[in-house]
Amino acid sequence: MSVTELFEVTDKVDQTDLQLGADGRLRHLLTMHGLDRRQITALLDEAELYLSDIGQPVIRTDALRGRTVANLFFEPSTRTRASFDLAARRLGADVLNLDVNTSSRKKGESILDTIYTLQAMQVDVFVVRDAQAGVPAYIARHANDHVSILNAGESDVAHPTQALLDLLTIRLHKGDFENTTVAIVGDIAHSRVARSTSEALVTMGIKELRLISPKSLAPEDGTVPLQARVLHNLNEGVRGADVVMALRIQRERIGNIDGVPGIDEYFANYGVSHERMKLAAPGAIVMHPGPMNRGIEIESSLADGPNSVIPEQVKNGVAVRMAVLSTVMKSRATT
Ligand code: NCD
Repeated sequence: MSVTELFEVTDKVDQTDLQLGADGRLRHLLTMHGLDRRQITALLDEAELYLSDIGQPVIRTDALRGRTVANLFFEPSTRTRASFDLAARRLGADVLNLDVNTSSRKKGESILDTIYTLQAMQVDVFVVRDAQAGVPAYIARHANDHVSILNAGESDVAHPTQALLDLLTIRLHKGDFENTTVAIVGDIAHSRVARSTSEALVTMGIKELRLISPKSLAPEDGTVPLQARVLHNLNEGVRGADVVMALRIQRERIGNIDGVPGIDEYFANYGVSHERMKLAAPGAIVMHPGPMNRGIEIESSLADGPNSVIPEQVKNGVAVRMAVLSTVMKSRATT
C-alpha cells in the first residue's frame, strides 16, 4: 500500500465512529462532523469554567495529573501549539513538544513507529498537526486503546479545536447562535478553519452562514455545509452580519495561483476594513484565526480596534483545549 493510499481522506462516517466510544463519549477529537449540539454545548460550557480575566491567575486543575500529552506538529504553528501546551500544563499533565526538524519522521521513520515509541513512554494524548489529510484518523486507528488523538489542524480538511474556540467566542459575545449571522471571508477553498467552523455553526443552528471569497477561492461542492450561502461580493456578505471572520490566503496550499487576485486587488475587493464594517449589524465583532496578513485580508487598525475579538479568540483557545483534554480523559475512565 502506498503512503498516499494509507492516508487517504478517511470518510466522514468512519471518522465519526472512530472518535466516539461505544458509549457515545468523545475518545478522540478528529472532526466536528458527527458531534451533536449537546456534545458541543458541553465542551463550550466546560471551557467557560476555565476562563479568568487577563492579569488574574489562571484556573488550574489536576484532571490530567500523572498523564502525558505529546504535541506532534509536522506543520508550523505558533498559537495552536502554545495553546495546547498551556492547556495541558494547566490541567497538571506532563507535556512533550517534539521538535519536528530533528524528529525521526524526517529520517524516514514512519509516523506509527514514532507513536509506538512515545506510547512506550506512557504518552496518553497525541496532539497532531499534519499537512497530509487523514493522518490523525490513521494514528487513531492504530494507537493503543487507552490513547487519545486530538486533531490540531489537518491539511485543508479539519481544525476542530479552532471551530470550538470560534464558537465559544461567538457565544460569549452574541449569546446564542439562532439569532446570529456569521460571514466568513477569504480563502474558503483551502481553509480547514472555514470547514470545521462552518460545520459546527450549522450544527448549533446558526441563523445564517455566509462564505465569501473570490471565485478562484470558492469551496468545492460537498466541502462546506449545504446550508451555507456561498457569495463573491463582500458588501453583500457583510451587510447585516453580526460576526465577520477574515481568513488568510493559504498560499502554501494553492497549487496554481492563476486567477488568485494580487495583494492590492485582494484588499480592495475582499479586505475586511472599517469602511466595510459600516455595513455590518450594530455591535458586529471581527474575528481572525491568525496568523494575520495585515493590510491584505484585514485592515490593521481594525484588527486592533474595539470591535476586534482576535486576542479573545486566542485566550478562549486555551480554555477550549483544556475542556477537550479533560473530556477525552474522562471518557477513558469508563472504558
Ligand atoms: C489556522 C491554521 O493553521 O489552520 N491558524 C490557526 O490554527 N490559528 C489558520 C491559518 O493558518 O491561516
